[in-house]
Amino acid sequence: MKSPLIAPSVLAADFSCLAEAVIQIDNAGADWVHLDVMDGKFVPPLTFGPKMAADLRPCSSSVFDVHLMVFEPENLIEDFARAGADYITFHAEALVHSHRLLGAIRDLGKKAGISIVPSTPVSAVEPLLPYTDLVLVMTVNPGYGGQTLIPGCLGKVKALADLRSRGVGEYLISVDGGVNLLTAPSVREAGVDVMVTGSAFFDAPDKVRLVRELKGG
Ligand code: DX5
Ligand code: ZN
Repeated sequence: MKSPLIAPSVLAADFSCLAEAVIQIDNAGADWVHLDVMDGKFVPPLTFGPKMAADLRPCSSSVFDVHLMVFEPENLIEDFARAGADYITFHAEALVHSHRLLGAIRDLGKKAGISIVPSTPVSAVEPLLPYTDLVLVMTVNPGYGGQTLIPGCLGKVKALADLRSRGVGEYLISVDGGVNLLTAPSVREAGVDVMVTGSAFFDAPDKVRLVRELKGG
C-alpha cells in the first residue's frame, strides 16, 4: 500500500497566527496545505477568502489545496487562482454546471477538484470523473473540524479507486473529516491518495511524528 499525501487543514489552527501554521505544516514533513473556505450559507461558518491564500502563499512552499464550501463557487475561482492556489475543489452539491466549472479551473492553469458530502453517492459525480484532477470525499458533514469520521463513506473511496482502475479518469482521491491516528489505517486501507487532517495535526505535540504515522510509517 503506498503512503498517502498529508494535507493539514489550517481550519484547526489559531487564525491569528496562520503564517506560523503553514510554516508548521511545511516543517512537519506534510505535503499540502488545505485551506477550508466557508461562506456561511453552504455551511454555517465563515472562514476566509482569496486574500488569506495570497497572504499565506509566500510563507509556504507546499501545494495549496483550496476546498470551497460555498454556493456560487464560480465567483471565486479566478481570485483563488491569482492567489496561488494549486488545487481548487468545489462541491457537486453547490451548483448545477459542474463540467463547466471544472473546465474553467483547468483553463486557469489549476488542478480542478470535485467534492461530495456524506449523503451524495459516487454515481452523482461519475460523469465528471474524466474531467477532474481530484475527488474529495467528505467523511463528515462539512463545516466544522473535530467531528467523527463516518465509516460508511470509505466505501466511496474504494468505488472511486475501482472506477479509476477501469480507466474512467486520472484523479487523486482525498478524504476529509475525522482523520486521525485511530481512523487512518482504515482510510489508507480504502485506497486514499490524500488525507486531510485538521484537529489531529494541530493538537499533536509532535507533528513530524504524527505525519509519519498518518502515512503508515
Ligand atoms: C470540514 C473541513 C475539514 C476540517 C477537517 O468541513 O472541510 O477540512 O478541517 O477537520 P478534522 O480533521 O478536525 O475533522
Ligand atoms: Zn476541507
